[in-house]
Amino acid sequence: MASETTLAPTHRAIVLHSLDTPLKVEQRPTPQVTPGNVVVRVLAANVLSYGRDILDGTRPYPYPKPYIPGGSAVGRIAAVGSDCSTFTPGQLVLVDIMMRARDDTSVSYLLGIHNGFSSKTVKLATDEWRDSTYAEYAKIPLENCYPLDEARLLGDPASGGLGYTVDDLTYIHRLLVPFGGFRDIDLKVGETILIGPATGPYGTAAVSLALALGAKVVAMGRNAQVLEQLATMSDKVKTVQITGSVGADTEAIKKHGPIDVFFDISPPVAAESTHIMSGILSLAHSGRVSLMGGIAGNISIPYGAIMFNDLKLHGKFMYERKDVRMLIKMVEKGVMGLGKKVGARVEGKFGLEQWDEAFTAAKENAGPGQSVIIAP
Ligand SMILES: NC(=O)c1ccc[n+]([C@@H]2O[C@H](COP(=O)([O-])OP(=O)(O)OC[C@H]3O[C@@H](n4cnc5c(N)ncnc54)[C@H](OP(=O)(O)O)[C@@H]3O)[C@@H](O)[C@H]2O)c1
Repeated sequence: MASETTLAPTHRAIVLHSLDTPLKVEQRPTPQVTPGNVVVRVLAANVLSYGRDILDGTRPYPYPKPYIPGGSAVGRIAAVGSDCSTFTPGQLVLVDIMMRARDDTSVSYLLGIHNGFSSKTVKLATDEWRDSTYAEYAKIPLENCYPLDEARLLGDPASGGLGYTVDDLTYIHRLLVPFGGFRDIDLKVGETILIGPATGPYGTAAVSLALALGAKVVAMGRNAQVLEQLATMSDKVKTVQITGSVGADTEAIKKHGPIDVFFDISPPVAAESTHIMSGILSLAHSGRVSLMGGIAGNISIPYGAIMFNDLKLHGKFMYERKDVRMLIKMVEKGVMGLGKKVGARVEGKFGLEQWDEAFTAAKENAGPGQSVIIAP
C-alpha cells in the first residue's frame, strides 16, 4: 500500500481547461497531505449519465477552470494528515464529493461537478477544494472519507463476508441521493412512496432503496419496458406510465394508494412533464413531497390541493453526513444489498485515457441498476 512517503511526485489526472476544448490526461503534481485532509488513491469513481453534458456546457454547471472533474468514489487512503485519528494508509474508504464549508456547513457544493450557488462555495471551489477524483490521487477533507469494513464487504461469503467487489461498492453513492431525500422526508416502514421518474439511474436506485426500507413503491415513468422490469423486483412495486394526462395519471396512481410520499427526481428536461402535477395531486392527506430533481427554473404547483390537504413540500440537495454513515451501516449489515442482489451492475469500467468512451457508456447505460465508472 502507498504511504505518505512513497507517493510519486506526479500523478495522472483528467483536466478540463475550457468547455470548448476536449479533456486532457496530464501529469500533475501529486496532491500533498496537510492537517484536515487525506490523500486517497482513487480505485473507482462514478460517472453520471449526464456527465458529458456538464463538461461540454450542455448543462451549464459553473466551475473554476482548469480543474480535475470527478464523481464520488471508492479508494484507499494513501496519506494522512497529522490530525487524523481514524484512517491509516491502505484503508478502504468511501469518498464523498459533497463539500461543506467547515465554518458553515450550510455552504455546500459538489467537488468536480458544480461550484454551488454562493460566493462562499465559489471561493472554496476556487482556492482550496477544486480538484476531484478523475485522477490517480485526490486530496479529500477528512470528514468526506468514510471507513468501509473491507473484510465484511469484500470478504468471501463462506467466511462471513458479503462477497462484493470494489466496483459494486460504487453503487452506494447512487443510493445515497434518494436516501438523503427519504431521510429528509421521513419515509417510514409500511408507507407507500410514489417515485418519478423511476426509470433513470437515481429513480431505479430509489426503488431498490425504498423496498429495503420496508416501503411499498409506485414507480412512475414514460418507459413501459423499464417499468415492466421494475415491477419484477417485488410484488410491492406497482407501476404507472406517464401518459401526459394529469387527470388520468392521478387516478391511475391513486388506485395504488393511499400515497404517503412523492419522491421527484426529474432531470431538467422533464420540467414540463405532467408527472409532477399528478404526483402531488395523488397524495393522501398530510402527504409529503421530496423534490430532488435537477429542475433549475419554475414549475406550477396545485396550490389549493397543497393547502387543503396539508401537504408538505421539501427540497433536498444530496444528503447529510449522518445519512452516509447510516447507509454504509445498512449495506454492511446486509439490510441494503448491492450488486447482483439488487440487479446493480457496472456496465463499463474505463481508464483515464478512455474518458470519452466512459461518458458515452454512461449515457447509454442509464437503466435500472446500470452504472459506469472510471478506474484511474
Ligand atoms: N437533489 C440532488 O441532490 C440530486 C443529486 C443527483 C442528481 N440529481 C438530479 O436528478 C436528476 C435525475 O438523474 P438521473 O441520473 O437519474 O437521470 P437523468 O439521466 O438525468 O434523467 C433520466 C430520467 O429522466 C426521465 N426523463 C427524461 N426526460 C423526461 C421527460 N421529458 N419527462 C419525464 N421523464 C423524463 C427518464 O425517463 P425515460 O426512461 O422515459 O427517458 C429517466 O427516468 C438529474 O438530472 C439531476 O439533476 C439531483
